[in-house]
Order: sequence, then C-alpha cells, then structure tokens
Amino acid sequence: MPSAPEKQELLPPAAIAPLPRHVGIIMDGNGRWARARGLPRSLGHRAGMQALRRAVKAARHFGLEVLTIYSFSAENWSRPRSEVDYLFSLLRHFVRSDVAELHRNNVRIRIIGERDGLPEEIIGLLEQCEALTAENDGLTLVVAFNYGGRQEVAAAARALAQEVAEGRLAPEDITPQAIARHLHAPDLPEPDLLIRTGGEQRLSNFLLWQSAYAELVFLPQYWPDFNELTFQQALQEYAGRERRFGGIKPCEDKPLQGAASSSGSA
Ligand code: FPP
Repeated sequence: MPSAPEKQELLPPAAIAPLPRHVGIIMDGNGRWARARGLPRSLGHRAGMQALRRAVKAARHFGLEVLTIYSFSAENWSRPRSEVDYLFSLLRHFVRSDVAELHRNNVRIRIIGERDGLPEEIIGLLEQCEALTAENDGLTLVVAFNYGGRQEVAAAARALAQEVAEGRLAPEDITPQAIARHLHAPDLPEPDLLIRTGGEQRLSNFLLWQSAYAELVFLPQYWPDFNELTFQQALQEYAGRERRFGGIKPCEDKPLQGAASSSGSA
C-alpha cells in the first residue's frame, strides 16, 4: 500500500515542549518495505527519498535547528555494486531536484563523513550544496554520507596524536572536549533525539560520540512509511522523557535515607 500523505494537521510547535534542538534519523527499512510489496530494493530507496522530504518538512514546521540523516554509511559499501550505484544516483537526484528548493526555504546543508573514497564528481556535488546554502540560517540539514561514528572518532584521535607529535598539544590535554572539537561538525549541538525506523534497536555506527545523552526512539514503521505525523509522535515521546545527564532530578536532592546516620561518614 502506498504511504498516503497524512491529512491530519500537525500540532503547532508550541504544543510540544521541550522540543529537541537536534534530531538524528537512521532511515532504516527501505529494502523490507520494497520486499513486502514485491518490488526491487531500489524502489524502496526511492520511496525513502519521499519520506525524507516529509521529514524535512516536519523539522521545518517544528522549527528544529538541526536534522541529521544517515544516508550512506561507511559500511554500506559492502552492499551489491548495483545498490551502491543506485544510492549514489539518488544523491545526485537529491542535489539536482531538491537542493534549490531547500535553499529557497532557508535550509543550510552540511555533509559529514569521509570524503576520501568518494568519486570526485560526488565530492564536487556535496561541496556545491554546502557552498550554495552556507549563509542560510533556518534548519541545518546534515547529510551523513560515507559516514561512520568510529571512523569519525578515530580521525579525531589521529588529528590529536599529530598535534602531540608536533609538540602543539600535551597528552594530558586530550580530553572529551578536545576530541569533540575534532569531529566533523563540532559547532553543532549534540543530538537530543535519535530516531530509528524499521524496528531494529541499535545505533549502527551513527553519531556514536555525539549521542552519549541522546534520547532514543525506535519505531516499527519502515522508513518509506515515515511521515510528518510519525515525526510528531517521536517528538511527543521525546517531550515526555526525563533527561538527567547522569545527575538526579532537583526534587530528589536530599540525603539518602539513613545514609549519614548509619555509616557515620559523608
Ligand atoms: C536503509 O534501509 C537505508 C539506506 C541504506 C539508505 C537511505 C537513503 C535514503 C532514504 C534516500 C537517499 C537520501 C539521500 C540524501 C542520498 P535498508 O536498505 O538497510 O533497508 P532494510 O534494512 O529493510 O534492507
């Protein structure tokens, strides 16, 4: 069954609080969506592109600052050549058919991932999108392409090791903050919410460092069935979560019952 656009109106942004600043999405389930319909996987990816447009629309509606999408992972190279080629052709299509409109809508596009290993022509297209939209200050759409979280952290470690080797950094200055400064987009806020569609419950090497305190929402729907209302539901789920970042709620800030008297020490 085709995923019909939802008729139901989205809530106004103020109706959901707090809203995340940054949402990351693992767009999973294109292949299974296609298989369930007896279609080739490529058509699942094509339908996934439509879902991506709906996600961007909802992110703009809710006034999110950053939306990061996992478009092609460093591990996706292990797929059949024909599928890899198709995913690259979708990226070309995205650049040709969507970027002008995103630009008109004040969306800034940024790319994270390794450029090494990508065809020159693709690198050129990615750089073109970034340059065209660099001055926009609406939603930032981060496209993770040829991206792997471990690879990103390893690259940061290499850069820091180089600074140590050149005498520009002391080993004791390799802190979490120093590593974060060497990630692909260090100026962006960390994701508050990670959504994964397709029913699997894992991170698959996506934004590993940045998601240390992200709230995770796993949805059973395949990515091509994702729409603005699904996004809204994930935002509502996020709004109902309690984030403590390893601390405690202020109202629980009392001594543990009996702790001081029984142990006699602080
Ligand atoms: C995972 O589904 C999805 C991908 C590997 C590609 C996602 C790409 C798009 C949605 C469109 C491309 C967007 C841009 C900007 C290029 P899967 O194939 O792993 O699904 P499965 O687990 O059901 O097999």
